Amino acid sequence: MTNAPRRIGVLTGGGDCPGLNAVIRAVTKTAIFDYGMEVIGIEDGYRGLIENRMHPLTSLDVSNILTRGGTILGTCNRSNPSHFATGLDDNGQPVFADVTEQCIRHLRERQIDALVVIGGDGTMACTRPFAERGINCIGVPKTIDNDLPGTDLTFGFTTAVDTATDALDRIHSTAASHHRVMVVEVMGRNAGWIALHAGVASGSDVILVPEIPYDLRCICEFVEDRSRHGKRFSIVCISEGARPATGEQVVARIDPTSPDPVRLGGIGEKLADDIAATTGLETRTTVLGHVQRGGSPVPSDRVLGTRFGHHALELLAAGERNRLVVQRDGEITDIDLGSMETGQRLVPLDDPLIAAARAVGTCFGDTSA
Ligand code: F6P
Repeated sequence: MTNAPRRIGVLTGGGDCPGLNAVIRAVTKTAIFDYGMEVIGIEDGYRGLIENRMHPLTSLDVSNILTRGGTILGTCNRSNPSHFATGLDDNGQPVFADVTEQCIRHLRERQIDALVVIGGDGTMACTRPFAERGINCIGVPKTIDNDLPGTDLTFGFTTAVDTATDALDRIHSTAASHHRVMVVEVMGRNAGWIALHAGVASGSDVILVPEIPYDLRCICEFVEDRSRHGKRFSIVCISEGARPATGEQVVARIDPTSPDPVRLGGIGEKLADDIAATTGLETRTTVLGHVQRGGSPVPSDRVLGTRFGHHALELLAAGERNRLVVQRDGEITDIDLGSMETGQRLVPLDDPLIAAARAVGTCFGDTSA
């Protein structure tokens, strides 16, 4: 405990996901009960640090939050202190400024010695300037997308798969009744983890992931073949980041104020139109969207969040600096904080789940199906 901080700040940045409250609870209770530290909750991610909005967290504040979705601290995915939109210019374009020093002043005024930053790659990139200026930062990775390099699993992913699978199961019965092709678009950015796992769990007939660009002809032949053999409906589970081999991803919008400005979305509708136009089969689209980020975390995400939060505090108590908590081979461990900033953990083409899905007849929209 020699180099351990006495007062720590905790924030949640980027998109929310189920399990954030489990981490906040574990961090706060471990800090107070095991190490006698004080905990300050920073509101709305880095925005709260920029605007000096924070408040002490007691054990009572984090009692009864384990099962709650979202984050009791609030979050923001548009507030990078080193590139913060302070207003608009004459053309209505955002004007950016580096407000890192202002944030450091707020930390010093509150005598916060260390930060626990719960976020994804964008939030961790925002954290680097603080570590470089001597603030001890412990990162805890989160996202429903499960695409962060360095960790085998992020909390939130299993709950999102659960939610998407439930939706796909429900789509199944209406698809069968109406003899339709049902295209269901799921989240995941450039990685197909959610589509692959929810698609397999729900027995989707076609699974389309960004890692395997699809051939429309192949998908149409597959669903027509099913129709000819008496299976008069098909379920297509498609990642928002999927694209045809001959085309581009569909971008829903660009947010220049976000550390990760591209928002994908719309490929499901495009594919449904293409299938209907090519096959004449009646086709509908459902976009699951943010429903995948909501709701109570499943038990394994509560457990993972609790273990991540506890490990973050063990690191601080041991005087460790600038580490990122991760899960590797089933163990909770830690790596250098900077490790997550580059690259995305995509689904490998030799993932055993792809082979297992192909073996039960799932089409991935490519010729090896
Ligand atoms: O990273 C989590 C995620 O839900 C992605 O799957 C999705 O592409 C993105 O965030 C949506 O972001 P926003 O909440 O800004 O629309």
